[in-house]
Amino acid sequence: MSDHKNLRSLILNHKKIFSVYGLGNVGGSLAAAWLRAGAKVIGVDISKKLLSEIKSGTSHKKEPFISETFAKALKNNTLSLTSNGVAATQQSDIKIVSVPVSLKNNKINLKILISVSENIAKGLKKDDAVLISSSIPPGTAEKVVLPILEKYSKLKGERDFYFIYNPERIYEGRALEDIEFNYPAIVSGLGKKSLEFGEELLKLISKKGVLRMSSLANAEAEKLFEGVYRDVNIALANELADFCEKTGVNYWEAKKGANSQPFCHLHNPGTGVGGLCIPVYPRMIIEASSKLGKYLKMIEFARKRNDFMPKKCVNDSLNLLAKYKIKPKGIKIAVLGLGFRGEVSDSRLSPTYTVVKEFLKKGCKIAVHDPFILEDDLLPSTVHLSSDLNSVVDKATLVFISSDHKLYSKLDSKSFAKARKPLLIFDGRNILNRNNFKNAFLLTIGMR
Ligand SMILES: NC(=O)c1ccc[n+]([C@@H]2O[C@H](COP(=O)([O-])OP(=O)(O)OC[C@H]3O[C@@H](n4cnc5c(N)ncnc54)[C@H](O)[C@@H]3O)[C@@H](O)[C@H]2O)c1
Repeated sequence: MSDHKNLRSLILNHKKIFSVYGLGNVGGSLAAAWLRAGAKVIGVDISKKLLSEIKSGTSHKKEPFISETFAKALKNNTLSLTSNGVAATQQSDIKIVSVPVSLKNNKINLKILISVSENIAKGLKKDDAVLISSSIPPGTAEKVVLPILEKYSKLKGERDFYFIYNPERIYEGRALEDIEFNYPAIVSGLGKKSLEFGEELLKLISKKGVLRMSSLANAEAEKLFEGVYRDVNIALANELADFCEKTGVNYWEAKKGANSQPFCHLHNPGTGVGGLCIPVYPRMIIEASSKLGKYLKMIEFARKRNDFMPKKCVNDSLNLLAKYKIKPKGIKIAVLGLGFRGEVSDSRLSPTYTVVKEFLKKGCKIAVHDPFILEDDLLPSTVHLSSDLNSVVDKATLVFISSDHKLYSKLDSKSFAKARKPLLIFDGRNILNRNNFKNAFLLTIGMR
C-alpha cells in the first residue's frame, strides 16, 4: 500500500477524502474534528431530519462548536451530506463508522453495523482505510465486519486496505474537546500497516497522542471495560446507599470521607443508569461470556441492581406518601428530568421511563419536566412533558427528582409553590440543596 508519511498534506489538499457513517453524538463530533483539522468530509446518515438540522445549523445543540463547524464547512464546500452510503464510499478514501449497536430484549443487535459495512464494501478501493469507532463486542471487527468488507470488495484487509478499530471515548456535552484535547486516541489495526496508518492518522486530531493496542479485540474490550467499570461501581454505590438508608448512615458524607483516600473512587447512587453506553457495554461482555458458560456473575448482578433502581426509588416515594396517609391512586406526581443523566438532552434508555411506568401502574397522573427535551415519542400520551416547571409541579402531591440537571440544584421551596401541601419531595440524585427546603419533607437517596 502507499506510503502514508505525507498523509497530512494529502488530507489538507483534499486528495484523501473522509466519509463518516452515522452523524450522531460520536460521528458528528468526529466529522467536526476532521473538518477543524482541514479535511474534506462526506457525512452519511439515514436520518433526513438530522441532515436537515445540520443544514439549518440546529443539530448537536448540546455539543459546543459542532453546529458552527458544520455551517462554515457547508459554506466552503468541505462538508457534504448524504443518505447514500454506497455513493459516499465511492467518493471517499478514509471511511469512519460510528453507527450504534442496539439492544433488543437485552441481546446485542449488529444489524446497522452490518448494513453500513455492506455499503462501504461496495465502493471500497485499494489503499482506502476503514476505521470502526462504534462500541462493539470483542472480535466483531475482525469476525463480522472484515469478512463483509472483503467479500463484497474482493479486496484483502491489510494487503489492499487499512482496517482499524478506534473506539470513541467522548463524554456527551464536551465531545469535541475530548477528541481533540482530553484523551489519547486508542488505535488498533488488523496488521502492522493498518496500525501504523491509524496512528499517523489519529495523531492529526488528538493532541494527547495515540495509545496503541496490539489487537483489534484488545481495543474493542478496552472500550467496553470503561463502561463495565462505571456500571459495577454505580451498582456498588447503590448497594452502599441502600445500606446507609437502613442504618442511618449518610452515604454522601461517608463517600466524601472515603474518596479522600487515593485508592477509593466511590460513585454516586441514583434513580438508575441510562444512555446508549453504560447499560449496553456490560451486556456485550455478558453475551460474549455466555458462549463460555455464563460465569460473569458480578457484571450481571450489577446490571440487575442498577436496572432495579427506578423501581426502588418509586417504592421509597410511595412509602413517603404512605407516611402521610396519602394513597397513590389519582394523585399527580411531578417527575423532574427525562435526560438519562444531568445536562444531556439524550433520553435513550433513561431510567425516567421506568419511573413513570411504575407510578402509572399505581394509578398516579404524571407530568415530566426537562429543560432540554421538549418532545418525546416514548412517554405514554397521558404524560404531560414540559420545560415549564410551574405547569409540571402545579397541584402535584409529590416531586420526584430523576435526573441531576444543574438547574435543579438552585431550586427552593418557592420553585414548588404550586405543588400541594405538605410539600413532599423524593430526591433520587441528591441534587437539591437541603437548606432551601426547610419546610418540606425531603427524602434523599442514600440518607434518612
Ligand atoms: N454517545 C456517546 O457518548 C458515546 C461515547 C462513546 C462511544 N459511543 C458509541 O458510538 C456509537 C454511536 O453512538 P452515538 O451516541 O453517536 O449514536 P447516535 O444514535 O447519536 O448516532 C448514530 C447515528 O447513526 C445514524 N444511523 C443509523 N443507521 C444508519 C445507517 N444505516 N447509515 C448511516 N447512518 C445511520 C443515526 O441516524 C444516528 O444519527 C455507538 O456504538 C456508541 O456505543 C457513544
